[in-house]
Amino acid sequence: MLLEINDLTLLYGRIQALHGISLTVNEGEVVALIGANGAGKTTTMRAISGLRPVASGSIVFDGTDVTRMRADLRVVRGIGQAPEGRGVFPGMSVVENLEMGAYTRRDKGGIADDLKMVMDLFPRLAERRKQAGGTLSGGEQQMLAVGRALMARPRLLLLDEPSMGLAPKLIQQIFEIITRINEQGTTILLVEQNAQQALSRAHRGYVLETGRIVKEGTGRDLLHDPAVKEAYLGVA
Ligand SMILES: Nc1ncnc2c1ncn2[C@@H]1O[C@H](COP(=O)(O)OP(=O)(O)O)[C@@H](O)[C@H]1O
Ligand SMILES: [Mg+2]
Repeated sequence: MLLEINDLTLLYGRIQALHGISLTVNEGEVVALIGANGAGKTTTMRAISGLRPVASGSIVFDGTDVTRMRADLRVVRGIGQAPEGRGVFPGMSVVENLEMGAYTRRDKGGIADDLKMVMDLFPRLAERRKQAGGTLSGGEQQMLAVGRALMARPRLLLLDEPSMGLAPKLIQQIFEIITRINEQGTTILLVEQNAQQALSRAHRGYVLETGRIVKEGTGRDLLHDPAVKEAYLGVA
């Protein structure tokens, strides 16, 4: 097991956002976490990456308890994140943004290889390598955020709504890229409101409702689950 979360609770002041969630991600998997707006998906990602302290429970990554480890040390261990809302550095070029993603690494050769890998994965970024991040379209910034996370060469890639705000054609493209990244060996935990796409690409999935996991199963099982269909796939 690459990631194991046990009975995790998290508070924002007096508001409890996570009520004891447990989930696992095995090496090589794509696992989807789906749920409505406000369910706690981003909060779960923040807990895993260390951007928010948890109140109780544990997060074990590759056999090590990282529950209270600093966020930057989790990156070094192999937890990479493309945050919700993109967060590219607007004044830096595409290449500079990507290089920032590799700031914890010292292997210059490997960094150069991965820069090429990201450019191959995202030809749109390659065409705009010198353009400032802030002048990219929303979809291109989304790609840049995913590319930057890949530059850390994570073992576990956390993707928070990578399809958010994208045109349908780009949504298709970004999901294809996610599948390709996984096939190249990266384990992925994917948070999505686009449940249809996420579950059809995922090996397994979890459904989060108001801070609780209410259902889990293979991507296929969840896609065909009547309650999931009604609540998240827009089919009665
Ligand atoms: N910084 C914050 N301070 C207070 N409450 C927050 C904060 N971030 C999120 N929340 C609350 O926590 C709950 C879960 O939010 P979030 O994890 O962003 O949901 P999702 O990503 O599933 O849409 C929501 O009720 C939200 O209002
Ligand atoms: Mg969110």
